[in-house]
Amino acid sequence: MNILILPGDGIGPEIVGQAVRILEKFQREGVPIRMESGVLGGAAYDQYGHPFPERTQQQARAAQAILLGCVGGPKYDTLPRALRPEQGLLAIRRDLGLFANLRPALLYPELASASSLKPEVVAGLDLMIIRELTGDIYFGQPRGRRVNAAGEEEGFDTMHYAVSEIERIARVGFETARKRSRRLTSVDKANVLDTSILWREVVTRVGRDYPDVELTHMYVDNAAMQLVRAPKQFDVIVTGNIFGDILSDEASMLAGSIGMLPSASLDANQKGMYEPIHGSAPDIAGQDRANPIATVLSLAMMMRYSFGRADLAERIERGVRQVLAQGLRTADITDPLHPNAIGTRAMGDALVDAI
Ligand code: IPM
Ligand code: MG
Repeated sequence: MNILILPGDGIGPEIVGQAVRILEKFQREGVPIRMESGVLGGAAYDQYGHPFPERTQQQARAAQAILLGCVGGPKYDTLPRALRPEQGLLAIRRDLGLFANLRPALLYPELASASSLKPEVVAGLDLMIIRELTGDIYFGQPRGRRVNAAGEEEGFDTMHYAVSEIERIARVGFETARKRSRRLTSVDKANVLDTSILWREVVTRVGRDYPDVELTHMYVDNAAMQLVRAPKQFDVIVTGNIFGDILSDEASMLAGSIGMLPSASLDANQKGMYEPIHGSAPDIAGQDRANPIATVLSLAMMMRYSFGRADLAERIERGVRQVLAQGLRTADITDPLHPNAIGTRAMGDALVDAI
């Protein structure tokens, strides 16, 4: 297993550090793992003057899988857009063709009271958001700023999806639904956007190849509401880049904390980049307070999707359940019964032991 480790910025190095300890444990057991580390985002800007430098690009292309922490920080806010850490993240996704972003939202029963929703609304929640990751308004041209006909400055971006881009992500959606409860919800804004009208047509057409999967369509505003009203109605959601960005942050709150949600970004050949869905949390960086579980669960996804090692994935996932059952909590997932938080490193210790 050739794995590139990109700790990134903010809390990135701390949380990725815990996942690396698990990889080292597997290595000691004889799992053939080779790790190399690199820089992305602000850390890369500091070292090379660019958020996605050539060295990182070469390392990323050569690796079979990438474990990423998170990027960004206030220190970079004044840089021109092209040099900001987030651009490094978008560039690596695009360069590697990681179009399928899998964001599972699973509520561990122990965390039911950490969610901001009533326990009965979220108990048993297990949904998968599939977000298209290399298209949409994120990458559309033209974009920029200009002076309009009235002489006023305006900013503009372009939303677009080509049929082939919709088809391939729709297939990921249907295939994923097939392995779960055979229900797929496609989320769009087809009552307003031309891009979404095409999206809906194409998803419907692809659905003819999957008669065993029940397809429904939902407008994104309604989906945002339904996610907090009755989230268990969903099993697999497939949607475009920007809607998926927003809905997956919302879904993370159902799972108790954004510190719990992993993700996998895959190309057409199971090469993947694995990262927590949360940001770099500069306010708590370096304080041993961040929750490493989303990163550790991202490592489990890597073992399952890129290396076909469901056995190792399950060991990691069982380890996470075990430490939660032991009552161990980082600050973001404390509740009245478990008010005392442990630090990032102590959570890492417990996870390594449990695994
Ligand atoms: C995410 C993040 C990124 C995105 C940012 C940091 C560019 O919010 O992975 O969800 O918008 O895709
Ligand atoms: Mg986001």
